Amino acid sequence: MKIAVVKGDGTGPEVINEAIKVLNVATQRYEIPFSYQELDFSANRYLDTGQILSDDELDQLRQYDAILLGAIGDPRVPPGVLEKGILLKLRFELDQYINLRPVKLYPNVQTPLHNIQPEDIDYVVVRENTGGLYTGQGGFSEKNTPNEVATQEMIYSYEQVKRCLVYAYDMVLKRHAQQPWHGLSEAEKEQGYMGKLTLCGKTNVLTYVYDLWQRVLDELKDIYPQVLVDYVHVDAACIYMIECPQRFDVIVTGNMFGDIITDLAAVTQGGMGLAASGNINPNSVSMFEPIGGTAPQFTGLDQINPLAAISASHLLLDHLGYDQAALAIEEGKMAAIQQMTGMQAGKMGMGTTQVGDIVANAVAHPSISEQTA
Ligand code: IPM
Ligand code: MG
Repeated sequence: MKIAVVKGDGTGPEVINEAIKVLNVATQRYEIPFSYQELDFSANRYLDTGQILSDDELDQLRQYDAILLGAIGDPRVPPGVLEKGILLKLRFELDQYINLRPVKLYPNVQTPLHNIQPEDIDYVVVRENTGGLYTGQGGFSEKNTPNEVATQEMIYSYEQVKRCLVYAYDMVLKRHAQQPWHGLSEAEKEQGYMGKLTLCGKTNVLTYVYDLWQRVLDELKDIYPQVLVDYVHVDAACIYMIECPQRFDVIVTGNMFGDIITDLAAVTQGGMGLAASGNINPNSVSMFEPIGGTAPQFTGLDQINPLAAISASHLLLDHLGYDQAALAIEEGKMAAIQQMTGMQAGKMGMGTTQVGDIVANAVAHPSISEQTA
């Protein structure tokens, strides 16, 4: 397995170092041949050389089995230049049409929600990752005049919507196979459903785009009779994520809503310190990243939480089919969480490298119960 590593900017490098520390231990333990190639796509390179990410470099990336990415962005560069030029370009050009964002509350992690237990928050958001408002279509007319008009178009094709929904339906069944009946009431289980797919949209206002999503969702229903299908408007989804997150199993949504609700979701599971995502092209090279950004104010202080990047490496192994190694990392993560005082940078009760050491150590020395299982 050849892994391209893009550490990027800010705290990206230090969290990726911990993720690789953990990956090294996990791949050794399960005898998975792994090699890493570091590629410097970053603000520093841009400021030094003016280069962002060339088409040749993109082509090189297609030869890897997966990409592990830290974070992209820098206060010295105007907003959008690096985000669009590196991160979004990678997602779009490599056609990573799914952004998979698991949301899970681990024991011993503080959530700002009241009366919520770890078992109450365990769902995934399938965010469409190559279309919608992110296509960059639109523009200005009469810019810098009082008559100025700016447009930004939400664009979706039938095929884009369909492939995303198919992935989401399949995800419901995959989750059922791993741990059954997320998001269902007792009555729904008795009716024979295996899990639930919730479309998050805005059919009452975005009457073209989310009408298309709703129609394709319905069209696919017959192929997945075991999946209970639900719909929520995005504003209501924000309420439910706070008041009754138990109702969710797999949420599927467009690019912009997915961006917004997954930040909210991350807060409910204890913050950005834990949130990771997979940018997935099921037929080609996928990319895994923590979603917390560069956190420049914490750079180099050994204070940033590496668990999000470590979770990204867990998603990477899972995606490549190394379930056992992925599970070992998941358990290592839980071991570290048990010893930490908080998930926010500077409030962990220990340093970045120490968290990585605890996870790596737990992966290297599995618990007695697991050895005998
Ligand atoms: C994310 C980020 C990106 C996005 C930005 C940095 C372009 O917020 O991964 O959620 O909007 O997708
Ligand atoms: Mg975001």
